Order: sequence, then C-alpha cells, then structure tokens
Amino acid sequence: MEFSIPACIGESDDYSISRTCFMSTATIELDGKIQQLPIVIGSEGEKAVDISDLRAKTGYITLDDGYGNTGSCQSNITFIDGENGILRYRGIPIEEVAQKATFIETAFLIIYGHLPTRPELRHFSDLLTENQYLHEDMKYHFQGFPTRAHPMAMLSAMINAASCYDDGLMHWQWGKGKQFEVYAARLLSQVRTIASYSYRKSCGLPMIYPKKAYKYTANFLHMMFSMPYEDYELKPEVVHALDLIFLLHADHEQNCSTATVRMVASSQANLFASASAGVCALWGPLHGGANQAVIEMLQQIHASGDDGSRFIEAAKDKNSNKKLMGFGHRVYKNYDPRAKIIKAASEKLLKVLNLSDPLLEIAERLESAVLKDSYFIERKLYPNVDFYSGIIMRAIGIPLDMFPVIFAIGRMPGWIANYKEIMEDPHGRIYRPRQVYQGPAQQSFVPIEERG
Ligand code: CMC
Repeated sequence: MEFSIPACIGESDDYSISRTCFMSTATIELDGKIQQLPIVIGSEGEKAVDISDLRAKTGYITLDDGYGNTGSCQSNITFIDGENGILRYRGIPIEEVAQKATFIETAFLIIYGHLPTRPELRHFSDLLTENQYLHEDMKYHFQGFPTRAHPMAMLSAMINAASCYDDGLMHWQWGKGKQFEVYAARLLSQVRTIASYSYRKSCGLPMIYPKKAYKYTANFLHMMFSMPYEDYELKPEVVHALDLIFLLHADHEQNCSTATVRMVASSQANLFASASAGVCALWGPLHGGANQAVIEMLQQIHASGDDGSRFIEAAKDKNSNKKLMGFGHRVYKNYDPRAKIIKAASEKLLKVLNLSDPLLEIAERLESAVLKDSYFIERKLYPNVDFYSGIIMRAIGIPLDMFPVIFAIGRMPGWIANYKEIMEDPHGRIYRPRQVYQGPAQQSFVPIEERG
C-alpha cells in the first residue's frame, strides 16, 4: 500500500469536488483510486462524510484521537452549536426549558421526544413514585462500603446492584411489552434514592425513606437532610435551584459518559448496567467531576490569599500541571449557555438565602480576568456548566464529593434516551472502533533461559 499518496476529501478548492459534495457525496482519492462517500446532512445543516464503508472498499480507516471529529451516531435528542453557544433539547432552546419546565417534564421530553400532556405527566410521575423504593436487602450492600467511600463509587455499584433485584430486567428483551417505561422510571427514581443513601452512609446517618407526597427534587432533599425525628424544611427557592441544576444537566449529546452508555448498550447490556458505566465515565475531573474540582480550586485560591491572578498564570503554564477548572469545552467555543443560567441562579439563590460566599466573588473575578486574557481568548475558553454550579450546591449544603453525584442524577434522562435510541435502531451494530497498531512487528517468543 502506498502511504505517500495524498488523500483529499471533498469540499476542497477544486470546484467539481465541492459541487459533488453538495450533491451529497464526497470524493476521496486513495492510492490513485477515486472513491465516492455519501454526505449526511443533519436537520440543523450539520454535514458529515459517511466513512462506514471506507475500509471495506479501500483498506483505510480514519484516525481521530479522542473522537474530536467523529460522529459516532445520528441522534434525535439534543442539538449543540458550540460556535454560537446554542443548546436545544428536542429542538427547544435550553433557556426556554430552564424557564418553563421542571426537571421531570424535561426528563419526559428527553426520553420520549415530546413535551408530556397532563395525563402523560401524571402517569410518568406515578411511575416514578411507585418505583422509588429500593429492595430492603440493598441496605446490606451499603453496609459493606467503608464509611469514607466516594459516593460516585457507591452510586455506580448500587445502580448495577439494583438490576440484580429484578429478574425481569435481566431477561428483558427490547421491544417486548411496556417494560421500558417502567425500567426507565425505576432507574430515574432509584438513582435519587441511591444517591441520598450513599450520602447518609458516608455520614453514618440512618437512611430516610422517600415520601409519596413529595415531588422528585423535594424528595431528594428530604432523603438527604431529614432526620428520623425532624423533617428537613423544604424552601421553595432551594428546591427550584436544585431542580434547575438537574434540568440543565439532563442531556448534552455525545459527551464522554453518554458515549460510554451507548457503547455498553450497543452490546445489549441492560439499562442499569449501561447507566452504571456512565457514572464511572462521568466521575473524572475533566467531565462530571469538574464541579467538585472547581470548588477545590476556588478554595485553594482563597486559602492562599491569591486574587486569582497567580492561579491564572499557572493554568497557562503547560509545566504547572494546573488547569482552570470549569473553563473550556470540546464543543463550545463560546459561552456555555448553561453556565449563564447557573451563574444568574447562583446569585439569586445567595441573595434569597441572605448568604455571601467568598468563592462566588473569586469565581466572578477569575471569569472577568480570564475573558480579557489573550491565552483564553485565542483558545476560545469560556466558563462551562461546572464553573458556577458548585456555588449553588454549597449554598444548599450539599457536600463537595456529592457534586458529581448531582450531575449524574441530572444526566440520567439523557442516558436513558440514548439507551432507547440504541435499542430502537433497526440497523444498530455493536460499537467497535478500530485502531492503528504501533507496537512491535511480529517477533518470536524467547524462552526465559535465553533472556539473560
Ligand atoms: N485551563 C487552561 N488551559 C486549557 C483549559 C483550561 N481549563 N482547557 C483547555 N485548555 C487549553 C489546552 O491546554 C490546549 O492548549 P494548547 O492548544 O496550547 O495545547 C487548548 O486549550 C485546547 O484544549 P484541549 O485540551 O485540546 O481541549 P479538549 O477539547 O481536549 O478538552 C476539556 C476539553 C473540557 C477537557 C478541557 O477544556 C478541560 O480540561 N477543562 C477543565 C475541566 C472542565 O472544566 N471540565 C468540564 C467540562 S463541561 C462538563 C462536561 O460536559 O463534562
């Protein structure tokens, strides 16, 4: 094979090629042979070259470290235009969803593709209530964790464990009966129960059962903070702020954890196993763990008496091993629209609760300095969803290591919807990327006596 022959994909300055592209094929020249590749156009005009037959036709694969330029699927759920800071759930702008919907309405929209009617919403809420209790034996699993176990480890393990308590789920075949809506509601409801139990376990506190009368987010706060002798006082502003955080995390197209859920689902693993893998992918500080890392960074800046400028300099220095957490995004090259909403909500909540948080002041100072700094301007690094969400969670009293857990609860509708898409795809195949092997060429096994 001749690797020196240049390959050119259509839409170059060659007029005939670019015209071919717009007529829905791209032309690629490999080893002197011309290949036509179909162009796929998304409903918002996004263009993709379909290379799925490339290897079969030419022997070539495409190489894209970190999948920065790879469309792994076609999806109907969420649209992001990163250049313009646009995010839409099923076509509805995030700003409108945030202003008008609850998290549960949003979850229905994301999972089922349309806003629920009143009866649909009632039915969905009833299913969430019916499925919110964990099997009593699951308490023994919680007892087995060390007291200081990270709640993300418990969350992932317990979501997976929950699937063992339902034989139906293990043997469930997609498309048979109405089970999906029950399993989807069970996962969405139980993740909240598991999350709060993980927190209670880490504090050595007794577990608090969900209450039938409470709605989703209020119930979570109740299970987190009530005592057997005294119910937690539910402030509407607090419930609303946390509901908003869940809603703003509900889906975000093919991010690391959602792509993981799809990967696992593509082997036809069950819904709970797939979501459990999603929790693990989310945990890292470059993804859902960033909300925890942001607050740790702000605390460090505060404790060191820095006004933020020293940290900014360190974040620009590639040898410092530091990054400005809560800044930058693979897709957004503009202000993350969720960050704008969360910033306004955090200022509002602190005002209503009559709290002042020095970390909010540091965060705002950092943001205004960074937005004027050429390093960040040139690289188009703006605040992302994680930059201000921790301020709200701190104000509510949620401990730091629970922050990624809150992200996971919020992201559950997106994972469920993506799981559904995989299972409903009649042409779906197991996800199985290729690689370019760069290891040693074939060599013989050397017996241990001859190895020196
Ligand atoms: N601080 C300093 N420099 C940064 C940062 C940052 N937060 N983010 C990116 N850069 C630099 C990076 O070093 C690179 O510089 P150069 O071109 O000189 O090598 C350039 O900007 C491009 O960055 P990249 O690493 O190629 O970007 P990526 O798309 O691979 O990574 C990211 C995206 C989110 C992992 C990264 O921006 C980052 O680590 N941010 C901090 C962690 C964070 O806030 N994560 C939450 C993301 S939003 C929630 C979610 O969906 O997960």
